[in-house]
Amino acid sequence: MVLEQPLRSFFMQLAKSKPLNKAAKKWGLKFGASQVVAGATLEDAMKNVQLLNSKGLHCTLDHLGEFVTEKEEAIEATEACLNVLRAINETGAMCNLSLKMTQLGLDIDEEFCLDNMKRICQTALSFNIFIRIDMEDYSHCEQTLRILSILRKDYDNVGTVIQAYLHRSEADVAALKGVPLRLVKGAYKESEKVAFQDKAKVDENYITIIQNHLDSGSYTAIASHDHMIIDKVKAYADKNKIPKEQFEFQMLYGFREALQKELMEEGYKVRLYVPFGTDWFGYFMRRLAERPQNIAFALRGFFKK
Ligand code: FDA
Repeated sequence: MVLEQPLRSFFMQLAKSKPLNKAAKKWGLKFGASQVVAGATLEDAMKNVQLLNSKGLHCTLDHLGEFVTEKEEAIEATEACLNVLRAINETGAMCNLSLKMTQLGLDIDEEFCLDNMKRICQTALSFNIFIRIDMEDYSHCEQTLRILSILRKDYDNVGTVIQAYLHRSEADVAALKGVPLRLVKGAYKESEKVAFQDKAKVDENYITIIQNHLDSGSYTAIASHDHMIIDKVKAYADKNKIPKEQFEFQMLYGFREALQKELMEEGYKVRLYVPFGTDWFGYFMRRLAERPQNIAFALRGFFKK
């Protein structure tokens, strides 16, 4: 589609707009966002998690928010993560926690962010819950990997995400042998200096890093809605006798439900990324940028509300 590239850039710009992100917190879930965001409150999100669990789907909850610049906000976000962990523990839900470290003070002070992360990892460890550090834009990649390596010395219940569009991803995956990784194509707009721009090249590298991590015996989450990638992973695992217990497929809440069901029926573990909270705008705009067809969601939601 000729309009696809300008639309992508438009939504990526909106995703980064501070005034819009701030204003949207007061709007409630608008423009169809409720189809991809599981509620404004933890209570709503937990109801959705329990419903998904009852269908056999595992979850990872994400309390939405990113790029925080005030310490107070980062402390509030840390408390919100701890509340999520308590709710998962109390309900016995099949659920992990995903988080973004820029919500926990990464842009304020690395040591402060590390302290917040330690509190979260310690509580999660005591509840036997896994913490996934989402990978944000390239400017935070090095810091994220540095904090991960410190945390991994004390906590084996923490892992991160590697983005196939980055030139460095193959080397990063090799260095993270044994660490549970979520592998994705990558969701941010990055320069050609650091990232492949060609979709086919990203897909090719994506398959390479998935195969490398699986071959090293490491637990691998393949987070993609791309059936071509999923089919290749299934065929590779079959051919190379990689047990189904060594990997899982992950998708975002609200996407490709038929495919999720099909994979589960074939005996694969499927985990949904379940975002919730009032800070939904940036997340929702990135989803529209990824796949302008998702605008249909927005339009349906717009006319419903
Ligand atoms: P992509 O968008 O490349 O689509 C490829 C093809 O798949 C399409 O052409 C179409 O044929 C099919 N397809 C895709 N979506 C479809 C749909 N909804 N319906 C029908 N067909 C569809 N990124 C990041 O930078 N850091 C992170 O931490 C994360 N975390 C994360 C967690 C989870 C669980 C997921 C699923 C994704 C992420 N991402 C991410 C986002 C990721 O990097 C990527 O931007 C999106 O997943 C989009 O890429 P896909 O691989 O899904 O397919």
